Amino acid sequence: MIGHGSGKVILLGEHAVVHGVPAIAAGLSVGASARARDGDAMLTIAPWGVTVRAGDDTPLGSALSALVAARRAESRDAEVPREHAIGASIELPGSAGLGSSAALGVATLRALDAADGITRDFDRSQSIALAWERVFHGNPSGIDTAVALSGGLVRFRRHPGPGERALEPLGAGAVLRLVVGHSGEPGSTKETVARVGARKTSDPVGFDSELADFRAVVAAGERALLAGELDALGASFDRCHALLARWGVSTTALDAMCERARDAGALGAKLTGGGGGGCMIALVRDETAAHRVRAALASMGREAFETTIGETKVGATDRTERS
Ligand code: PMV
Repeated sequence: MIGHGSGKVILLGEHAVVHGVPAIAAGLSVGASARARDGDAMLTIAPWGVTVRAGDDTPLGSALSALVAARRAESRDAEVPREHAIGASIELPGSAGLGSSAALGVATLRALDAADGITRDFDRSQSIALAWERVFHGNPSGIDTAVALSGGLVRFRRHPGPGERALEPLGAGAVLRLVVGHSGEPGSTKETVARVGARKTSDPVGFDSELADFRAVVAAGERALLAGELDALGASFDRCHALLARWGVSTTALDAMCERARDAGALGAKLTGGGGGGCMIALVRDETAAHRVRAALASMGREAFETTIGETKVGATDRTERS
């Protein structure tokens, strides 16, 4: 049985989501896959040429042992989680803001559960995947693991209010066409999240007002998204990027790529995910605009791919396959 976890792009609200602001994200069709076989708790990631054991002194080994322990803690009487060796593959670049670690954790969890015949609801799976993700990100909001589990287009909120759910599926009023460009520099989400956290500590009042700015941008973007108003959504991308840049999580390369994408006809552009390197996204109206934006990024020596959002239903990646 193969377990999958989906990669993701955050459309609006990264970083602010750590501090309670809702964010909007979409699962990518690419992600991670894993398969369990008999053996001790170890993980091999073929494309990276990496093998770790649960509890060794590598971050991946620590994440695996956190996941194994959380699986045990989150199991009911009739469920008997056993140890297995996992072989995984991943189609996402690491440290790029596309949720590679969460996708890998979710794929691993699903492969283990499938081998043991355990079926879990979202909340239990999310809690286990978060134990894994904490090893890499320190203080994750949970958006990456949530989208790795659900796929689709969603609004995520870290601390939902009474009657609210953490993960709310959204229906876009139009299919979104995105160009995802890689700055060529790795970004450390742990570092950028800590940088934003330090800002909160040094100026709590100013930080609260910045969170309010984020909240307004995400709300306006969500309205535009639901109505299929692409120009307005693009403007929200631009505003979100400016707020993230003010928090010091953009880079010269990401700023330049967003600028170039807008000049080439993108409706809006922003960094996506943790920043400090990694990827940006540009919203484009059609195929021709996508080509122009990709060509503009290529002329800067940046790799890019295209993805469409709004056609895949939530739950589409919530699967294990027989093979
Ligand atoms: O860079 P990624 O894919 O790990 O995304 C991180 C998203 C943040 O909002 C920056 C952190 C979080 O835990 O929500």
